[in-house]
Amino acid sequence: MAEIGATGNGGVNRQALTPEDTRGRQVLLEWAAKRGYTAAIDPIGNLFIRRPGAHPELSPVMTGSHLDSQPTGGRFDGVYGVLAGFEVLETLDDYAVVTERPMELVVWMNEEGSRFPPPTMGSAVASGAMPLERALATLDRNGVTIGDALAVQIEQLPQLQRRPLGTKGHVYIEAHIEQGPLLEAENCDIGIVKGIQGLHAYQVEVTGAEAHAGTTPMRHRKDALVAATTLIARIRSEIADPEDILRFTVGRFEVAPGASSTVPGKVTFIIDLRHPDPDHLLRTGERILQFCSGEVEHCAVSAKILLQSTPVIFNDQVVAMVREAAERRQFKHMSMISGATHDAKYMAEHTPTAMIFVPSEKGISHNEAENTRDEDLAAGTQILCDAMLAVMSAME
Ligand code: GLV
Ligand code: MN
Ligand code: MN
Repeated sequence: MAEIGATGNGGVNRQALTPEDTRGRQVLLEWAAKRGYTAAIDPIGNLFIRRPGAHPELSPVMTGSHLDSQPTGGRFDGVYGVLAGFEVLETLDDYAVVTERPMELVVWMNEEGSRFPPPTMGSAVASGAMPLERALATLDRNGVTIGDALAVQIEQLPQLQRRPLGTKGHVYIEAHIEQGPLLEAENCDIGIVKGIQGLHAYQVEVTGAEAHAGTTPMRHRKDALVAATTLIARIRSEIADPEDILRFTVGRFEVAPGASSTVPGKVTFIIDLRHPDPDHLLRTGERILQFCSGEVEHCAVSAKILLQSTPVIFNDQVVAMVREAAERRQFKHMSMISGATHDAKYMAEHTPTAMIFVPSEKGISHNEAENTRDEDLAAGTQILCDAMLAVMSAME
C-alpha cells in the first residue's frame, strides 16, 4: 500500500478520491476477491468487505479505518487499521475458523479531510451526523465535488454491491497508530483507548479589496492577509491555555488572488480546535466565532461551522475486553484518550466501540517520517483479532 502514492520521502500522498486512493481500494478489493469476501459500497463511498459467519442474519463484528492520507502523510495513519483488519479476516481463513457472526472491514471515505474538509466525513454521513447532500457537494481547491470524484472512482472499482447508508454493527473495534508520544514514553506495547477528544472546525473568510501593490498607499488598503494574520494571532493569544490541553491549528490558509503585486482581496482559512472537555471546547468555539465576525483591519470577517464533534467515551465493556486481550498476551498496556480524531467517534454513537493503539516512533504523525516497529504492528493486530473474537458472543 505504501507504494501507492509514495512521496519519495518515505511517506504517501493518497488523498481521498484521487487516482491513488482509487488504486489503493482496487488493490484491497483484489485481495478480498481472492479470499472470496463480498464487497459493497454505500452512497458516500464507504467500502465494506465481509467475511461470512455461520449466521448471516446476525449483525457483524466490525473493524476498519481509512486508506486516504494527508498530502504529506505517513505509511501507517489509517492504512494500519485497514490492513490489520484484513489480516484478522485472512488469519481466520487460514485457521478455518467459522465465526458465529459475519466480520466486516470498513474502509471509510475521506477520513483525513485534507482534500475535502472536514475529516471523518464518511462515518459522519453513515451515522446521520452530516447530510449526504452536503457531503457530496463539498468542493476541493479545484472546484471538484465529492459527488463527481466519487462517481469517477466507482467507475474504476470492480462491480460492487450497493448498500444503503447505516453502519450499525454488533461491535466496532478500530486499530490505529497512536500518532503521539505517550506509549513510547511509557514503554508500552498497546494503548487501550477509552475515548476521543472533541474537534471543532471553523472556516473563516476575510474580505478586503484587491489593489495595486505599487500605487495604493498603506493607509488606504483593505489587505485581507494582514487582517487574517492579525486575527489569528489575536485568537491564539486570547484563548491560550496555560495547561496546554487545548489545541488550536490553522493548517489551511488561502490567499486570493495570490499575485505578488496585488494586495490580497480575500483570505480563507480553517481553524482546527480540539479539547477533551465538551464545555471548554464549546465555550472556546463560541469565543472564536465572536472574534471572527465584524471587521478587522478594515476587512469584513465571517465564519461558518464545518464540524462540531463532541468528545466521545467508548463502551466500557468493549474497552475492558480489549484490555483483557492485552493482559492475556502479556503486552504492556496503558489507558488513554485519543488526541487525534477517528471514524470510531461516529460508530460509538450507535455501536459498542473501542480502539487499540500501537506506539508511534517519537510520536511523529501527519508527517512522512511516521513509523511504527513491525513487532508493535503485529501486537496490535493480535489484540484486534483476540478482541474481535471475544466480543463475538459477548455483548448481547
Ligand atoms: C485525523 O487525521 C485527525 O486530524 O485527527
Ligand atoms: Mn487516521
Ligand atoms: Mn490522519
